[in-house]
Amino acid sequence: MKLGLIGAGNMASALARGIGEPSLVADIDREKAARLAQELGGEPVESNAELAERADAIVLCHKPKQLEEVAREVDGRAKVVVSILAAVTTDRLEAAYPGTPVYRFIPNLPAEVGRGVMCYTPGARAAEGPEREILELFGRAGTIITLDDEVLIEPAMAIMSCSPAFIALVAEAFADAGAAHGLAADLGVRMVVETMAGTAAYLAEHGYDTETLRARVATPGGATERGLIQLEERGLPEACRAAVDAVVEMARQ
Ligand SMILES: NC(=O)c1ccc[n+]([C@@H]2O[C@H](COP(=O)([O-])OP(=O)(O)OC[C@H]3O[C@@H](n4cnc5c(N)ncnc54)[C@H](OP(=O)(O)O)[C@@H]3O)[C@@H](O)[C@H]2O)c1
Repeated sequence: MKLGLIGAGNMASALARGIGEPSLVADIDREKAARLAQELGGEPVESNAELAERADAIVLCHKPKQLEEVAREVDGRAKVVVSILAAVTTDRLEAAYPGTPVYRFIPNLPAEVGRGVMCYTPGARAAEGPEREILELFGRAGTIITLDDEVLIEPAMAIMSCSPAFIALVAEAFADAGAAHGLAADLGVRMVVETMAGTAAYLAEHGYDTETLRARVATPGGATERGLIQLEERGLPEACRAAVDAVVEMARQ
């Protein structure tokens, strides 16, 4: 299946690298499109209209506010529409691309290394189009989680799509704390990031049971328990809740 990416920015690049298909690419910035197309072994295309004409499925990777403008340019040529636009519902996508099968994903940046999480909601006509093939292609970039109710996509976006940035901030904060005790900053970041990767792998192997992991590391009265008490008392859970609330509120405006 020939994919046509509309927008060659950060997320399009990460996703396309994870999928690894020689795709067609269009972007307002033609050099950007050319660079990504070359990297993918694909082809840059001059206009969104030409891209839609030639692609089996277009992938909307522009900014959400450009939905109508891009749909006007495509002007009924798209056979299949895949969207990664935040805060744009399948209803809105179907209104912009009437009669076309629509597939909505919210991906995250680790898709680039094949370890993404992609939350998925099918549009009303999904079964009429190449749903299985689309899921196979996007599944190459990581784990697909299908949401039964599209209303859950905003909280999902907060904890899987925005959260690589949140988790990076946590890594920085721990590295800074180590640096305050003399650990070199680059060494600290490496220690934390490798520990995150190891913790993630361990949790996946053990049924994502975070509570048991905590109990195994934190013996009662020990040093880890003292650290955990500080994190809880100083508001880590409330800070996470506030971050998710802020994302959901903005995405639903
Ligand atoms: N970044 C993430 O982690 C993430 C995660 C999940 C979903 N998303 C979604 O992914 C989409 C892209 O986000 P991003 O972070 O990759 O943004 P980005 O880096 O700004 O990429 C968007 C690209 O689309 C181009 N563009 C604008 N108008 C266009 C048009 N009419 N035709 C073709 N290309 C056009 C932009 O060009 P200019 O820069 O010249 O305007 C830019 O290169 C957004 O809808 C966002 O909601 C992003």
